[in-house]
Order: sequence, then structure tokens, then C-alpha cells
Amino acid sequence: KTSPRMRQVISSMIQHMHDFVRENEITMDEWMAGIDFINQAGKMSDDKRNETQLLTDIIGLESLVDEVTFTLAGEANDAPTATAILGPFWRKDAPKRKMGETIVFGIEDGDHTWMHGTVTDFNTGKPIENAELDVWHTAPNGLYEQQDPDQPDMNLRGRFTTGPDGKYDFYCLRPTSYPIPDDGPGGKLLQLLDRHPMRPAHIHFIVSAPGYRPIVTQIFDRRDEHIKDDTVFAVKDSLIVDFLPFEGDPKAQFELPYDFKLASF
Ligand code: DHB
Ligand code: FE
Repeated sequence: KTSPRMRQVISSMIQHMHDFVRENEITMDEWMAGIDFINQAGKMSDDKRNETQLLTDIIGLESLVDEVTFTLAGEANDAPTATAILGPFWRKDAPKRKMGETIVFGIEDGDHTWMHGTVTDFNTGKPIENAELDVWHTAPNGLYEQQDPDQPDMNLRGRFTTGPDGKYDFYCLRPTSYPIPDDGPGGKLLQLLDRHPMRPAHIHFIVSAPGYRPIVTQIFDRRDEHIKDDTVFAVKDSLIVDFLPFEGDPKAQFELPYDFKLASF
């Protein structure tokens, strides 16, 4: 049976779409072109590429859903870590790795980084045991592993589980800014809107722990020239970080300390 919520959401959507057609006196040709556009995005989408999601991201919808859904996570120091959109490149079942391991394989260039911190309960400040950090980012060529036949499967991805001290650490790269894929309907839409396809350099996380609200988020490199005009509108001030020069570790030229704060259910 249809839930009251579902009934409400679907009728509201239909009503808004009727209004849209009426207000703009949409012609049959325009309507068919719109359908064709969405079909093209659908045909391009599979488990490696989600063009339909990309379209909604370009018009700011995923960021808006994030904003209206996660009012708890704010910008203040005493708030849980702010959330940001998932984006189309997360993969389930990223390899589980041990603390201190690397997620970087077969990439010698790039700014190697030691990222570390603690997952804490934002109410009590206590460390959280058994928190899982699921992390993913792009290679220096701007491609996620599933977009790039030259990278090993599941490269630059990993899942780490904290011990009793709530601490985590691993090696990754200082990420690179890059264009979202613009060779399909997403690119066409950006062109129509006269917009660039660039996202500021970022690293994605899903942080979860038993008894806590999971957060989907990203951190952004302050030095990035696109930090103020992310093409999918995901940047929040509290998620902007500084990579620090790091000496004495042959495995990394940068260090990134970052703590995640979760809210309990
Ligand atoms: C989008 C998000 C990303 O994290 C990314 O790397 C590319 C695109 C998006 O929201 O469409
Ligand atoms: Fe991304």
C-alpha cells in the first residue's frame, strides 16, 4: 500500500511539473527533446557511470537534498562533521584495509599524503570504536579507478575500522581538481548553462559506526582554484582542509590531520 509520504511526494512532484509546463508553454517538440535527453543519460548509465545522477548534481539537486536532509550537521565547532553529496563514483565493497596501509597502487607521481585522526562522539567527545571509514578519490589524471582502464580495480579506495582509541590513519594522495565527465548529456547541460565542469580537489568519505548516524561527506583542499565555484555545489566551509608539508616519512610529502565527529541516534 502506498504510504502517505509517498502519496504526498509524488503528487507534489506532478503538480510542480504541470506548473512548469503551463508557465513555460512547453511545446511538443521541446517535451520530446527533454525526454530524449533523459533517455540518453539513462542509456549511458551503468554500475560504472551514473549520468542521470550527474544531471541532478549539475543543477544542484543532490546538494540541496543534502542541505535539507542534514540540518543537524552544521558549520559550528561543536556540531557533527558536516555532510556533502555522495556523487556518482562511490562503489560498494571497497577493500577492507589495515590502519596505516595505503590506498594508492601503481602511482609514483602525485603528492603522497598521510591522513590521520580520530572518530569521536560529538556529544561526549569520546573516541568511537568500530567506526568504519570508507574513502575514495581520483588519481592525478582526474579519473576514478572505474573510469580508467590503467588503474587496478578498487585503486584509491579502502575501508578502515577503528579500534578502542577511535583513531584511523592511512596513506592517500593530495587530490587533484578535475572536470566531471562532460562527454554526455551532463556536458551538454553545462554548455547550455554556460558553465565549467570543474570540481575542486576532494576526498570522499562515508563514516559510520554502530549506534551513530552515518555521514556521507567530502573534504576539500583550500588551495584549489575552484574551491568557491564547485560545479556540483558541494563545498561547505567546515569541510575545507589544509594539507601540511610533512618531513621524515619516505612514504609521504604531506600530512592531513582530520577528525570526524558523529552524532548518536
Ligand atoms: C560528482 C561528484 C563527484 O564527487 C565527482 O567526483 C564527480 C561528479 C557529481 O556530483 O556529479
Ligand atoms: Fe568525487
